[in-house]
Amino acid sequence: ASSGSMIVVSNRLPFVLEKNKEGNLCRKASAGGLVTAVAPVVVNCKGLWVGWPGIHLEDPNQPIPESDPNDITPTAGLKSDKVVSVRIDPQIFDSYYNGCCNATFWPLFHSMPDRATFNGEHWRAYITANKEFANCTLTALRKLKNTENAGDVPLIWIHDYHLMLAANWIRQAAEDENISCKLGFFLHIPFPPWDIFRLFPWSDEILQGMLGCDMIGFHITDYCLNFVDCCQRNLGCRVDRKNLLVEHGGRTVRVRPLPIGIPFERFVELAEKAPKVLSTTQKIILGVDRLDYTKGLVNRLLAFEKLLEKHPEHKENVSLLQIAVPSRTDVKEYQELKEEMDQLVGRINGRFTTPNWSPIRYIYGCVSQNDLAAFYRDSAVGLVTPLRDGMNLVAKEFVACQINTPPGVLIVSPFAGAGETMHEALICNPYEIDGAAEAIHRALTMPDDERILRMNYLRRREKINDVNYWTRSFLAAMGSLITQEDHDE
Ligand code: UDP
Ligand code: G6P
Repeated sequence: ASSGSMIVVSNRLPFVLEKNKEGNLCRKASAGGLVTAVAPVVVNCKGLWVGWPGIHLEDPNQPIPESDPNDITPTAGLKSDKVVSVRIDPQIFDSYYNGCCNATFWPLFHSMPDRATFNGEHWRAYITANKEFANCTLTALRKLKNTENAGDVPLIWIHDYHLMLAANWIRQAAEDENISCKLGFFLHIPFPPWDIFRLFPWSDEILQGMLGCDMIGFHITDYCLNFVDCCQRNLGCRVDRKNLLVEHGGRTVRVRPLPIGIPFERFVELAEKAPKVLSTTQKIILGVDRLDYTKGLVNRLLAFEKLLEKHPEHKENVSLLQIAVPSRTDVKEYQELKEEMDQLVGRINGRFTTPNWSPIRYIYGCVSQNDLAAFYRDSAVGLVTPLRDGMNLVAKEFVACQINTPPGVLIVSPFAGAGETMHEALICNPYEIDGAAEAIHRALTMPDDERILRMNYLRRREKINDVNYWTRSFLAAMGSLITQEDHDE
């Protein structure tokens, strides 16, 4: 897509709006992998971003403030006239976001059906919210048609499990109004196998919604194959597993593995500039996650406890620094996890703490990217052990920031998309606590030459397959689609 002709649609904008002490609206950065990856894309191509601003505005015409002049994050480059904020009735929003998105799709798509609730009212709110996002996108699309970019075919790029229905309505309305556009979708979380997916009572509608796109991207091939399988078994679509194609409604929809990357050079720069924040003689084992049950935090703490039991030589010599970013705090499962973590950290610290040392430093809060880069850089071990995770950007940010010699060691779970591609990391199954403790021990005692070798490979791969590469791959997958059509004509 050429400059200005891309419209990104996601539930979350890269910032939330908050009222400051004077009662004025201001921007505060959002956390999470989607925003980290997509913000540079939208800023670079001067695209529009349709999304939810984080609060329910009383005055629908209230203008969005520009970013703070001191803001150095990529999000700062997003001008207010490029932002379309979606307004949804607060009650509907609650059922859509806390209910259907985060109490149903999130656990189900992470293959944790026992944590999922199924509720017709939440599903109806999901439909209503998706229609509202579709309407706002259509308004933006109509405006684009009347601008200097009118000659381009606009690209609408819809993101994630919040908006799996929107594409179909956008496609239909655009066709009715004779507006051409291309529709792409990217799912930032896993797509589950059919026997899990079909537990959702309205699963056919989800597939039909997604198939409103021309191209659908997932992080890894396994998720693509799960999706193709569901299209065949639920809807009876003709599918081509080798070329990852699904026929639906007289159209052929492409499915593509497009593993997401990070702004690698930006993290290197941050790591080069960030002042030291950890003044400690102990080796640091680092965890950085939203406080989410998919991240395997309880298992991680138990593995660390086991390490101290089985290898007491690490006592007083290592600490686990765990950053847990508050997330979805209105959802019951998240509230329960918070309680469980508080208790577990207290119990383990109570058991091992000495007058001069505590084994776990637990930060329940958000950390600036500068501090994050310093933590990544100065840790001996990066511990990324989700029970299930679409990709996991923290693993990639950790390796980007390993600019010291000797570097740290990355431990990653095979159940994260990152575990599929980051082969030189230590791979550790978080469900087996003893094995996880041994992996941490191995990382702490790994010889320097092995650390260097592994980290060189990891860094080389992430540098090449960075977020720009991801965007280019997405655009290529959409663009070759246009070529194909031109060819058919
Ligand atoms: N992050 C952040 N502030 C924090 C902790 C994390 O902005 O205090 C960012 C982190 O840099 C990463 C993202 O949140 O880019 C987390 O992405 P990931 O894919 O690891 O997990 P997700 O939260 O998307 O499930
Ligand atoms: C994951 C999801 C994103 C989401 C982020 C933060 O990365 O894939 O879509 O934005 O978590 O969660 P939140 O509910 O705060 O947007």
